[in-house]
Amino acid sequence: MSRFLLLTDQPDFEKVVQLAIRGSLPGNLQRIPAAAVQLAPQELLARSLGEPTDVLMFGPDVSRTAALDLATAMDLLHPDISVVLTAPADSELIMSAMRAGIRDIAEPGSEPEQLRLLLERNCLTTESRRRKSGEGNIERRRGRVIAVMSPKGGVGKTTVATNLAVGLSKFAPMGVVILDLDLQFGDVASALNLEPEHTITDAVFGAAAQDSMVLKAYLSVGESGVYALCGPKNPADADLISAEQVAILVSQLAAEFQYVVLDTAPGLGEHLLAALEMATDAVWVCGMDVPSIRGMNNGLVVLRELQLVPEGRHVVLNFADRRAGLSVQDVELSIGLPIDAVIPVSRSVSLSTNKGVPLLAEKSRGPAWRNLDKFARRFDPASKDALRKSAHRREVLQ
Ligand SMILES: Nc1ncnc2c1ncn2[C@@H]1O[C@H](COP(=O)(O)OP(=O)(O)O)[C@@H](O)[C@H]1O
Ligand SMILES: [Mg+2]
Repeated sequence: MSRFLLLTDQPDFEKVVQLAIRGSLPGNLQRIPAAAVQLAPQELLARSLGEPTDVLMFGPDVSRTAALDLATAMDLLHPDISVVLTAPADSELIMSAMRAGIRDIAEPGSEPEQLRLLLERNCLTTESRRRKSGEGNIERRRGRVIAVMSPKGGVGKTTVATNLAVGLSKFAPMGVVILDLDLQFGDVASALNLEPEHTITDAVFGAAAQDSMVLKAYLSVGESGVYALCGPKNPADADLISAEQVAILVSQLAAEFQYVVLDTAPGLGEHLLAALEMATDAVWVCGMDVPSIRGMNNGLVVLRELQLVPEGRHVVLNFADRRAGLSVQDVELSIGLPIDAVIPVSRSVSLSTNKGVPLLAEKSRGPAWRNLDKFARRFDPASKDALRKSAHRREVLQ
C-alpha cells in the first residue's frame, strides 16, 4: 500500500521517512528509484501499489530540475496530491518550488519527528483538497486572515501589509498570500514589483470562483516569496465586484494558505466589511497626526457597533516622529488601545516603495526594518512575542 510515495536511492533516507510514518500515520511507504523522476505523472502513479497516493516525496538525491518539472505536471493533473521536496531551502529554490506547485520543502537532515509533522500536514492538505473537490465551492476557514486597515489613505496600509506578508513568509514559506482589496487604486502590484497576468477580477468571475485549484493558478509570485492576488487593472471593475464575491474569495484563500494578508482601501467600504466577517486579526495603521487618530477612533466605534471587530487586534503607529508634537503614550490614551509596533518615519521605507521591494525583503536593518520584522513575528505561533500576545509591552520611539 502506498499512501506515501518516496523517490530515492538512499536507504538511510528511506529509513528516516519510514520512522516518521510508522506507528503515527496511517498508510504505508513505497520507495521507488530516484530515476523514476523522469517518468510522466501517470506512469509514475501507475507504479504505486494499493491505496491512492496522498504524498509524493522527492529524496535529497533526486535531480532538482527533473523534480520541479514533474511537480509542475503533477500540479496540473493531480493537484490533490501533495508534493514534497527534500533540499536545503534557499530563497531561489523556494520561488521555483512555489511556481511548480510544491507544497513543502523538507531539510535533508531532518529528524523523523520533524518529517512526521511535515507529512501529517501534507496528508491533511490532500484530504481537504479531495473533500473540497467533491464538495463544491465554499470551504471551511483554516488560515489566519489579517486585515490591514485604516480610515485614512496614505498612512502606510500597503507598506505595512506588504512588509507583513514578506515577514510572515520568513517563517511560513509558501504559506502566505496577500490580497489587494483596494479595488480602485490598489498598489500591491507596484509595492511588490509585479506585473500580474491575472487579477482579482479574473478570480471572482468564472472558473476560479468555483475551484480553488484554478484560483491558485491566478496568483502571482513576488520576488520576495509571497503569493499575491492584485487589484483590478481597471478601477471601474471595483463596481462589478460584490461584497459576497470578496467573502467567498477570502474563504477560498484561507482554506489554502496559512496566512492571508488583506491590504484594504481607506475607510469602511462594503468589501472590507465582507472581508472582516472572515478576518481573524485586524491591524490598524495609524499616523502620528490628529486627523489620523480621530479617524481611527471613529472607525473603531463603527466596527464595534457592527460587531465586526476581529479577535486579534494590533495597532501600528506609522510615520512616528519625535518632532510630531505627540508621544506614543498620547496616541495610546487617545485611541484607548496599546500600540504594538512603532514604525519611524524613514527614507528607507519610501525608497523601498519606489523600488517595489518591501523593506523586509532587503538586508538593511535600520529601526524601521527591525520594528516591521518584530511586528511580523508576533504572528509566528512559535515565537515568544506571539505567546505573550495579551501582554502588550510599551513601545518607545527610538
Ligand atoms: N514609515 C514611513 N516612513 C516614510 N515613508 C513612509 C512610511 N510609511 C509609508 N511611507 C510612504 O508613504 C506613502 C504611502 O504609503 P502607503 O503604504 O501606500 O499608504 P496607504 O496604503 O495607507 O495609502 C508611500 O510612498 C510609502 O513609501
Ligand atoms: Mg494602499
